[in-house]
Amino acid sequence: MKRCSQAPFKYLEITHMKKIEAVIKPFKLEEVKDALHEVGIEGMTVSEVKGFGRQKGHTEIYRGSEYTVDFLPKIKIELVVSDTKVNEATAAIIKAAKTGKIGDGKIFVSEITEAIRIRTEEKGDSAV
Ligand SMILES: Nc1ncnc2c1ncn2[C@@H]1O[C@H](COP(=O)(O)OP(=O)(O)OP(=O)(O)O)[C@@H](O)[C@H]1O
Ligand SMILES: [Mg+2]
Repeated sequence: MKRCSQAPFKYLEITHMKKIEAVIKPFKLEEVKDALHEVGIEGMTVSEVKGFGRQKGHTEIYRGSEYTVDFLPKIKIELVVSDTKVNEATAAIIKAAKTGKIGDGKIFVSEITEAIRIRTEEKGDSAV
């Protein structure tokens, strides 16, 4: 991370990291994890979540049956990566998670201000 001492800020923090949040179909988790590993992603957080997209869950098939409830089980993967890896990581997720059918999921990318590895207190993109 670079710190610039330009007015009006004493420290203007220029971030070099992004958070990628991907909501995917649960059965795609292993494939996505392997694809991310192949492009050198070393850490991620995974959660079981529920959600719906524009079809509101109605016409999606989950484990062979058509769901009539609004919320469908999904997996959310969160990973913070240096800017240089964002394109590779999102491409890997898309390639692994895509079936071409509705409900394949979404990827959201946002700025990260800081990351700290607790054990070593390394900061910025050397902590991810
Ligand atoms: N705008 C959103 N904000 C947050 N989460 C979302 C949003 N859209 C979708 N999701 C999450 O992603 C999951 C999968 O969404 P989904 O792929 O069905 O989106 P979609 O827009 O309906 O696209 P498709 O037409 O391909 O189904 C949802 O169950 C929900 O958890
Ligand atoms: Mg949908």
